[in-house]
Amino acid sequence: MKTLRYAVIGTGMMGHEHLRNLALVRDMNGWDIQVTALIDPNEEMRESAVSLARSLGNLHANGYAKLSEVDDSSIDIYLIVSPNFTHHAIITELLPTGKPILAEKPVCTTVAQCDDLLLRLAGYPSPFWVAMEYRYMPPTARFMERLNSGEIGTLRMLSIKEHRFPFLEKVGDWNRFSENTGGTLVEKCCHHFDLMRLMVDSEPVRVFGSGAMDVNHLDERYGTRTPDIIDNAYVIIDFANGVRASLELCMFADGADPQEQLTAIGDRGKLDAFIPGPDRFWPDARERSASVVFSPRDRSAPSIDRLEIDPALAAAGDHHGSTYYQHVQFVRAVQEGGVVEVSAEDGVKAVRMGAAAQESIRTGQAIVFDQFMTDASLPSQGTAR
Ligand SMILES: NC(=O)c1ccc[n+]([C@@H]2O[C@H](COP(=O)([O-])OP(=O)(O)OC[C@H]3O[C@@H](n4cnc5c(N)ncnc54)[C@H](O)[C@@H]3O)[C@@H](O)[C@H]2O)c1
Repeated sequence: MKTLRYAVIGTGMMGHEHLRNLALVRDMNGWDIQVTALIDPNEEMRESAVSLARSLGNLHANGYAKLSEVDDSSIDIYLIVSPNFTHHAIITELLPTGKPILAEKPVCTTVAQCDDLLLRLAGYPSPFWVAMEYRYMPPTARFMERLNSGEIGTLRMLSIKEHRFPFLEKVGDWNRFSENTGGTLVEKCCHHFDLMRLMVDSEPVRVFGSGAMDVNHLDERYGTRTPDIIDNAYVIIDFANGVRASLELCMFADGADPQEQLTAIGDRGKLDAFIPGPDRFWPDARERSASVVFSPRDRSAPSIDRLEIDPALAAAGDHHGSTYYQHVQFVRAVQEGGVVEVSAEDGVKAVRMGAAAQESIRTGQAIVFDQFMTDASLPSQGTAR
């Protein structure tokens, strides 16, 4: 395999997770992967990333404050892990390179940027992939496999529940404001909306949401500003093929185990995936395993798949090894012309669904999704109560 030299743009919490996983991708596959450029305006994060990268064997890793300081001829792949509100401008800056790009979710933060990105990316000569790690979590992947096996019959209802801890603190507190993130249902829940499209295999036609910031961040002040990010919501989505889906998000449920539950119900049975949260947030070593359970309608015993996560992959991040699995598939797309599994269009659709849910919460009305495909002077995406 040809050497792949990565530039990592944004070296905060998730940038560090990508560095640890890229080292595993190199070591576990014997691939020649080198991280050569770490770009971040924040000196502390940049230096921490350079020292981590070097300790992981990237001996030529160097730090840069700006993307424009990096010599493009020394880079084969760009990995964007900066805050959401920077993604659109960074992608635009990278397009003339024509190089492969892996861009963290959400691919952008507004519907206008969605339209613009699709236009700019049409005919892009290299893989452009939106990082949607939740697709690659082993319990989610097994859930998909069993869903596609047809054992539940025809899918009719899909629900995704996430009960978790509040948003973590970020560099410069960018995630406290919807104008930076796109709003909670774009920032966090684009993962869930992406999973819904993948699992239902259809497009949304109507979105109705109810949510607010009821518990978290109420006492926080940044200068004169108070955060405006939703911490709990229900969202119901009708899909074109008649499947109904729902999302239940609660971000003041720190002690919940599992953190996520996926449920698919068809005319022959029900499938659940139970997904624990990241180990590092639990003080004890209590065993918390992931499983996928099929419950047939005939009341015969449910069948349970327990999933073991490779400890090296689990230790490399908060996402059950999914960051590693996604990188492997991305490298295959780059090196072998493999399929781009999460396209710009997928990334953009997930943003649009989140933005439609935010707009439904703001207005109290169901949103007809087709009418939400262009910006049409949408008002800002604040929190309704
Ligand atoms: N897929 C997932 O599960 C997942 C999980 C966490 C974060 N993320 C995404 O990763 C991205 C980063 O999140 P994070 O948690 O690492 O945030 P963070 O605040 O910890 O780190 C972001 C870093 O980007 C830097 N930065 C700001 N502007 C920049 C610019 N123009 N160019 C380069 N670097 C810049 C900041 O200084 C900071 O060090 C976000 O888009 C977030 O949504 C994805």
